[in-house]
Amino acid sequence: MTTSPDMAAFVAGLPKAELHVHLQGAASVPTILELSRRYPEAGLPLEEDELREFYRFRDFDHFLSVYMAVNELVRTPDDVQALVEGLGRDLAAVNVRYAEVTVTADSHLLAGMDPAGVAEALSAGRAATLARTGVELAYTYDINGAHGLAGAERTISWAERFPAEGSVGFGLGGPEAGAPRTAYADAFNRARDIGLASVPHAGETTGPQSIRDSLDALGAVRIGHGIAAAQDRSLMAELIERDVVLEVCPTSNVCTRAVDSLEEHPFTILREAGVRVTLNTDDPGMFDTDLNREYVIAHDVFGVDRTGLLDLARESVRSSLAAQPVKDRILAEIDDYAAASLSE
Ligand code: HPA
Ligand code: ZN
Repeated sequence: MTTSPDMAAFVAGLPKAELHVHLQGAASVPTILELSRRYPEAGLPLEEDELREFYRFRDFDHFLSVYMAVNELVRTPDDVQALVEGLGRDLAAVNVRYAEVTVTADSHLLAGMDPAGVAEALSAGRAATLARTGVELAYTYDINGAHGLAGAERTISWAERFPAEGSVGFGLGGPEAGAPRTAYADAFNRARDIGLASVPHAGETTGPQSIRDSLDALGAVRIGHGIAAAQDRSLMAELIERDVVLEVCPTSNVCTRAVDSLEEHPFTILREAGVRVTLNTDDPGMFDTDLNREYVIAHDVFGVDRTGLLDLARESVRSSLAAQPVKDRILAEIDDYAAASLSE
């Protein structure tokens, strides 16, 4: 991929929002190496080239097993706070103004962390990020489908009892096969009762049915990935009708082998059908990407022009769960950027 310096600079300066990024998967390679050296008994790579090799995924299940192994390195609320603050710095560096960070709180609870301490770490990391960088962070808590209904219960009861500042969403991640979305309706109903919007993963590695189930049983307002919708015209029409937004993560889908290549990615099918789509990174530390890179891919591989990239940035803000004044502020920044850069 050869990207023009002009395009790279345009994307780098573009104010935007990230709606789908996992706290652990976002941790940079240096951050993970620092943790693996602090906790060598976890047996994870201690050198950069080994870690990069460890992050070459054979398939989606292999990716999930690596993801869970990395969880062994996150042991204390201080570790959680350090990850949040590291992510905040990385987001500021790519001009992300607002981000919804997915936290698998259950993994931290199963690691034996104090439940209140996890929420305090999230609140403190968010406050420090805002003060230091101006980046506004919000949180989504995802159930891990591998942990079944017991994990769902732990996740929702933790969110009910220990609401961290900036809690906005409730999700469902981990394996899709063998984890029917419909099984989690009760947890999502309870999440809605405490003001958390439904944003499950679906249609990443299984077909359209998981997306339909997310709409019907979980009341999804956005879908994590959702790329399988491209296989089903009537489902795309339903997403449009219900005004549901997809959190598309192109590099992730290639790295986990959910799609064969960027060229075969269904982004363009979805966008041209009129489905609302946003660009996201998913696990940027593990996939060696960042949000600027995803926008450059949209230009270079999917043929989105500057006006289209501005619209994608606007869509990321509009379809976020941010408070209206935050949305208005970032949308005004994008308008100013558009006026300045398109008149050049
Ligand atoms: N899908 C499911 N689980 C995950 C993902 C994903 O894309 N990233 C981290 N955990
Ligand atoms: Zn994800």
